[in-house]
Amino acid sequence: MRAAESLRRARVRACLVALIGLGLALPALTIWLDAVRHSLGPDPWAEASRRSGSWALVFLVASLAVTPLRQTLRLAALAPMRRVIGLTGFAYAVLHVAIHLGSIGGDVRRFLAELISQRNLLFGALAIALLIPLAATSFDRAIRALGGVAWRRLHLLVFPAAAFAIVHFAVSWPQKVDVTEPAVAAGLFAWLVGYRLIAPRGGAPGLATYAGLALAAAGVTAGLEFAWFALRTRVDPWLVLAANLDPELGPRPAAWVLAAGVAALMLRLARPSARSARRGPLARQLPIA
Ligand code: HEM
Repeated sequence: MRAAESLRRARVRACLVALIGLGLALPALTIWLDAVRHSLGPDPWAEASRRSGSWALVFLVASLAVTPLRQTLRLAALAPMRRVIGLTGFAYAVLHVAIHLGSIGGDVRRFLAELISQRNLLFGALAIALLIPLAATSFDRAIRALGGVAWRRLHLLVFPAAAFAIVHFAVSWPQKVDVTEPAVAAGLFAWLVGYRLIAPRGGAPGLATYAGLALAAAGVTAGLEFAWFALRTRVDPWLVLAANLDPELGPRPAAWVLAAGVAALMLRLARPSARSARRGPLARQLPIA
């Protein structure tokens, strides 16, 4: 009976690992498929670089969201996902840089010269330089060799790495007057940093803190958007700020970030009690060690 149960669990686990692996590899597969079908548009290198860079950032930010999500839902089984998603983000960043290198015919000298002369690329290079030691120490042996405290301290570098990646994203952004995507990325990052600073050790904060964090992250988003328009365009930044209060103009970046913060608050409201989280079925979900 026990053997049958552990076989069933092993199968469920293998299926979950395969599904998650497929999900994480899917963006790369679609880039590759579009490349072989010549459907990446008029500038295939730039499109492949753009798409791989976007996914690198998505996975990097998603890896930072795992701990808040785990603590908010009291879902300990999510913990191993942080490493998996973080390493996936790094793999996409490497792919992104490789595609960029490919686009210039593999000319390493030109590549290095560009990193120094083009400010947007310099921020990308700083991001990947910080990610390399993190990826290199994301294995059990490295964790044991470094010890838990040093490892955790080293891995705090993921925050400046993500900040550099977001600056790189913003300054590489081709449009000047619609900066929704970089502004939302920066606002979500502000929420994640705020959470880490405020959350009590090992647990989730109270409901009022989630509400405050949602408002503060939305405020930071609106402020960054204001600064962008003030510094980089001739558009009146006060009009952009006022647009946040006009529902007819559709959801602005600050509204998207507020919605994400409210969603986190809802999850906190709906989470199981500490006792049922320890005993209940949620604790057995995603059994990926
Ligand atoms: C040496 C390091 C890097 C180089 C040389 C580099 C190069 C580039 C280039 C040339 C572009 C503009 C693509 C185009 O519009 O044609 C770009 C955009 C981008 N890169 Fe990087 N990158 C680097 C690191 C990174 C890293 C580490 C990340 C994220 C973790 C990243 C994320 C992005 C994103 C999100 C974009 C904008 C994509 C879009 O326009 O939608 N890059 N990068």
